[in-house]
Amino acid sequence: MIASTATTALPIAPDAVDPRFVPKRTLYTGAKIPVLGLGTFGSDRFTGEQIAEAVLGAAAVGYRHFDCASVYGNEQQIGHSLRAIVDGGIAREDLWVTSKLWNDKHGEADVIPSCEQSLRDLQLDYLDLHLVHWPFPNYHPPGCDVGSRSKDARPYLHDNFMKTWRQMESLVDRRLVRHIGTSNMTMAKLKLVLRDARIKPACNEMELHPHFQQPEFFRFVVDQGIVPIGYCPIGSPNRPERDRTETDTVDIEDPVIVRIADRLGVHPGVVCLKWAVQRGQVPIPFSVKRPQYLSSLRAVTEGPLAEQEMREISAIDRNCRLIKGQVFLWKEGQSWEDLWDPRGEITPH
Ligand SMILES: NC(=O)c1ccc[n+]([C@@H]2O[C@H](COP(=O)([O-])OP(=O)(O)OC[C@H]3O[C@@H](n4cnc5c(N)ncnc54)[C@H](OP(=O)(O)O)[C@@H]3O)[C@@H](O)[C@H]2O)c1
Repeated sequence: MIASTATTALPIAPDAVDPRFVPKRTLYTGAKIPVLGLGTFGSDRFTGEQIAEAVLGAAAVGYRHFDCASVYGNEQQIGHSLRAIVDGGIAREDLWVTSKLWNDKHGEADVIPSCEQSLRDLQLDYLDLHLVHWPFPNYHPPGCDVGSRSKDARPYLHDNFMKTWRQMESLVDRRLVRHIGTSNMTMAKLKLVLRDARIKPACNEMELHPHFQQPEFFRFVVDQGIVPIGYCPIGSPNRPERDRTETDTVDIEDPVIVRIADRLGVHPGVVCLKWAVQRGQVPIPFSVKRPQYLSSLRAVTEGPLAEQEMREISAIDRNCRLIKGQVFLWKEGQSWEDLWDPRGEITPH
């Protein structure tokens, strides 16, 4: 960590969750990741300052895990909060900070400088986890319409991905990051990476919520000793219009989720988070609102769902992918499903 200077103690809220009571999952390295983290993607709804304030507020209520990414455009602002958190007396070792390599930085010469930039912005001297955000090296401007295509878009090319991965491995060798991982992968692609990696992914970040459980891929990830980090854990109910399609379903309106929420007297989103942690994934819900992020953290320290409820939720999977990734398609006439290798093998070029 860049040297701590000021000594203003971080005010710990009277209603905070004691972080020692937040369960952790053990990675294959023996390191421990808190089972729930705060997402930091504000999309076009929240400014970097608002999100940085939420990071500070979340630390004050007991969060120690933050899911960041260079493309979210707010790492500089979040860096000020992380600095204040450490200056306020929370040891760097007690924090878990993830960042991600964006798609326009897959080039061999770009990976290390990009990570160094994230470190500077976040005011850290190492990341706990650095992910390759998407397996495609395809740039598109933030906030662009899902119909837009880059003329330089390319498919997943394993040899190219491994060149990027070698640089990710060298980030571990240089002690700039403690762990590396993947995001938005499929089983077919991850199998190849596992075959060829010198340092295997410690985590795989993937979309996971009750209406999108990815049971086969989830099981594969766990069986490989990789921790699944689940994004959109509440079903991203407030995502931008451009990320919605007519067939999308709404997890927090599902009668099973609503009934369990009523029994517990909590918001249905809290049920999604309890289910996620009990199932074995690490959800990273997003909110800048204190009551929301506090209740999300409480969800993982208060009583578990009944086994019967867990079974009922496993039966409401709708295979409803919300983040379809259309902008990454690389040729005309494709559908977004092609990005996700629906036939179990990497979609041919
Ligand atoms: N690796 C990737 O490619 C990838 C992709 C997408 C997302 N992510 C990560 O995943 C994070 C979460 O994704 P997301 O924001 O799309 O989906 P999400 O966490 O499923 O949904 C966020 C929404 O849920 C609501 N919410 C949060 N906590 C709540 C609670 N305790 N009770 C009731 N409602 C609650 C919030 O409502 P309010 O608006 O009222 O606060 C917020 O709008 C992102 O911030 C990002 O870090 C990663």
